[in-house]
Amino acid sequence: VNEQTAASDDFETAYAGAIDFLPLEGGTPVTTPSLREHRQSQLRANLANELYGPVPLPPDNISVSRQPIAGDLAERVLIEITVAGRLFTVDAALWLPPNLDGPAPLICGLDFVGPVGLINSPDFPIDENARISSREVYGARENKRIEETLRGVSAYRWPVSMMLDAGYAVLVSCYGSWVPDDADDWKYHGLYPLLDCAGGPPVGAISLWAWAIQRLVDAAETFDEIDASRVSVAGHSRLGKSALWAAANDPRIGAVLAGNSGCGGSAPAAHPVGETLAEMAEVFPHWTIPRGESPAKRNFDQHHLLSLIAPRAVYLAHAKADVKADPIGSLLALKEASEFWKLERPEGWYWPAPREIWQTCGQLRNGSLGYHLRPGGHNILPYDWRKFLDFLETV
Ligand code: GCU
Repeated sequence: VNEQTAASDDFETAYAGAIDFLPLEGGTPVTTPSLREHRQSQLRANLANELYGPVPLPPDNISVSRQPIAGDLAERVLIEITVAGRLFTVDAALWLPPNLDGPAPLICGLDFVGPVGLINSPDFPIDENARISSREVYGARENKRIEETLRGVSAYRWPVSMMLDAGYAVLVSCYGSWVPDDADDWKYHGLYPLLDCAGGPPVGAISLWAWAIQRLVDAAETFDEIDASRVSVAGHSRLGKSALWAAANDPRIGAVLAGNSGCGGSAPAAHPVGETLAEMAEVFPHWTIPRGESPAKRNFDQHHLLSLIAPRAVYLAHAKADVKADPIGSLLALKEASEFWKLERPEGWYWPAPREIWQTCGQLRNGSLGYHLRPGGHNILPYDWRKFLDFLETV
């Protein structure tokens, strides 16, 4: 599935030397939580103005209802959102751990196929308006629609029973229902017209998917069975980018799992490895805002994005054969961003040499920050989830 094999298994290719990072701190050292917050708001504004476009304001109204699904433990969650008199309806799937004896923590996020990809039951309706990245291996055609052949195909990417066993509730929606993943269609359905994005500052789909994730958190806040003070968000690849940006904008999100988020996610643009912003914008012009100036004038980078999540938890999962998503650059960006966690963790940091992580497919853990590299390619797998759930146990 979308596996991209590395051109080479060579550490030097993946490392490419030390990175010349843009400064994290501004003029004033970040020695207190309020100085950190001040600097975070500058860095957030840079990323919003130069890369993603600002995440739009919350809707006027959101109402949520639930229906059982025949033949599955999941419930269908219907979310109705109103903005300036315009109504948008979207759905998600919710699983609750059995035998709850109090509100459960939640893991939520967007998936490439969504509930239909996680649930075999034909009772969960297909969203005819969704436009997703087609997956030919599952019989998807080029029309970007969710098809019957996609039922259940994402289940391995969201090992729900593993999460339920660990005590988490799970809430998942289809990214293409909120914003069609298509450079033309995205303007005509879902959040772009709902939020009248044509009438506001330039915005890209990553910001709108981040907005969608925030609405999943809104929905979760209405459920008595969920402890809304313990919300984690997960996403793979373009949805890892969106999950990180959502967390960077929403302090309700306590932890993020970003799998192979790569360019525009955890991978620093200053690192000459993997996909570049220009390459990404060429294939996916709707994800980010158009940028006129040269890379030399760039005022942001992805360690800034990670630092916006401080002091909350960040876990990056990478795969050795997915050099396109820059596993070593992401590790170094996390280390660079860790400066913003020093208020909570002044010492005790341990950063193994990148070569060691590479050679051993290693893992590291520094308080609220975690990272691993696994064998294999561009995907999110039960392995990644096992590690993430272990991490969540102790943050
Ligand atoms: C493409 C894109 C990446 C993205 C990936 C994905 O490969 O170039 O930036 O992360 O799709 O979302 O799977």
